[in-house]
Amino acid sequence: MDFAVPDYIHHKDNKNLGHIPGTYGLPLIGHTFPFVMNPYKVLDENFRKYGPVFKASLTFQKFVVALGPEYIQQLMLDSSKAFSARMGYNTPLGDYFAGGLLMRDFDEHKFHRRVMQTAFKIDAMRSYVDQMHPIIDEQIGQWHREQSFQFYPNIKTLLLDVGARVFLGMDMEGQATKKLNQSFLDMNEGTLALVRKDWPGLLYRKGMNGRRELEAFFLGLVPGRRGQAGSDMATFFSNEKTEDGEYFSDKIVGEHLIFLLLAAHDTTTSALTMAAYYLAHDQQWQNRLREELQGLGKDELSYDDLGNNVPDLDHCFKEVLRMNPPVPMMMRRTVKEVELGGYQLQPHTMVQISPLYTMRMEQWWSNPNSFDPDRFAREEHKQHSFLWAPFGGGAHKCIGLHFADMLFKCTLSRLLLNYRFRFAKEEQFPSRIQHFPFAKPMDNLPLVLEPLS
Ligand code: HEM
Repeated sequence: MDFAVPDYIHHKDNKNLGHIPGTYGLPLIGHTFPFVMNPYKVLDENFRKYGPVFKASLTFQKFVVALGPEYIQQLMLDSSKAFSARMGYNTPLGDYFAGGLLMRDFDEHKFHRRVMQTAFKIDAMRSYVDQMHPIIDEQIGQWHREQSFQFYPNIKTLLLDVGARVFLGMDMEGQATKKLNQSFLDMNEGTLALVRKDWPGLLYRKGMNGRRELEAFFLGLVPGRRGQAGSDMATFFSNEKTEDGEYFSDKIVGEHLIFLLLAAHDTTTSALTMAAYYLAHDQQWQNRLREELQGLGKDELSYDDLGNNVPDLDHCFKEVLRMNPPVPMMMRRTVKEVELGGYQLQPHTMVQISPLYTMRMEQWWSNPNSFDPDRFAREEHKQHSFLWAPFGGGAHKCIGLHFADMLFKCTLSRLLLNYRFRFAKEEQFPSRIQHFPFAKPMDNLPLVLEPLS
């Protein structure tokens, strides 16, 4: 089905924000650098000065920022269809992730989300758990042999291997997968380019070359998966049909696969890295989780264990995402005039809401800056339905949230059952945290792993 190109994509951002409190900071760069170094601090300073709705220039663009669960709710539920995700993310992601779900709005988005429906049903999820366990077991089982073990690059490799199998139905051994992997890493690096021109020698060109290689690879992969019975996401996507019973085109399937890899990989890598960081610091919680897992009396979590059988692990997952949400800010652009926090916003105004800030607001959370998974047993998060919102909500709500939950729990449980772990150096807490593009300790989290058997 063809959708008309919406008129609003041709408009420039509305920068006429004189009636909104706040400042744009330094000429051209605005608040970009302090924000990238410490986003919470910049948001908090503005919140205290101007209240929950203010203007700011972040990441070289002028935004209205709205802090608090009520604004997350308004933008996510978007009952008047006033907010475009496509135009919100167009500047940072538009070229690299063209055609992905976040790059589509309203009816067109709804039509496209159907490509992914079978891949996230329960039967498929069960089969992913079975596919991921052997890869996780094998790699984590070898980790203690590494000299000066760095958690971040190792978990990244592990999750790329799991992704190659579960998303694409491939094994990492092959040359083709290694090349694919490199294209993917290049594309991700390209999203950080400051000069966004596809010119020789620039980081942006490297990223776009990665995107072109991935696109060519997926366009070649999809036809061979039609009519096949695989249990990987690429095969599910390739066999999904529209309401008219037609396959989605190779290009559409390829574009969704590219975006899926981005959305899935670095987010879960970040969550697991930050979990290992908090648990290396908090040995009591580390022991408590291990005891919960040992109490189950089995080596591997099954899909059915993930719901109610491991409440402490579940609270730990929620708490890690509260402290360091892999998507700290969510972006939209208005497509029509709309009211936000008592201010009228003209069409084409960029707006940011912040899970990062909202999930640390003192008015809602007790000791918001400390790692306390038990706050979820106390149900602090239930005071407002958008107070804990690391996966967004509404039409664009993360389609992979149960997958992320499963991957996180299966991987962390294997780590906890194989090793007791602690920081490799004495002064590692608090560590300097890199916030963009995804949260992780800047030193890559060197750990000592002590085998348990
Ligand atoms: C801890 C891990 C993850 C976090 C915190 C996370 C967070 C998010 C958030 C906040 C959004 C919505 C963004 C917005 O509305 O502006 C989103 C969308 C999305 N996520 Fe995730 N995600 C995670 C893992 C995954 C995984 C594992 C997959 C796939 C297997 C995935 C696939 C997607 C897709 C396809 C979208 C776009 C949905 C749409 O636009 O309809 N994510 N994610």
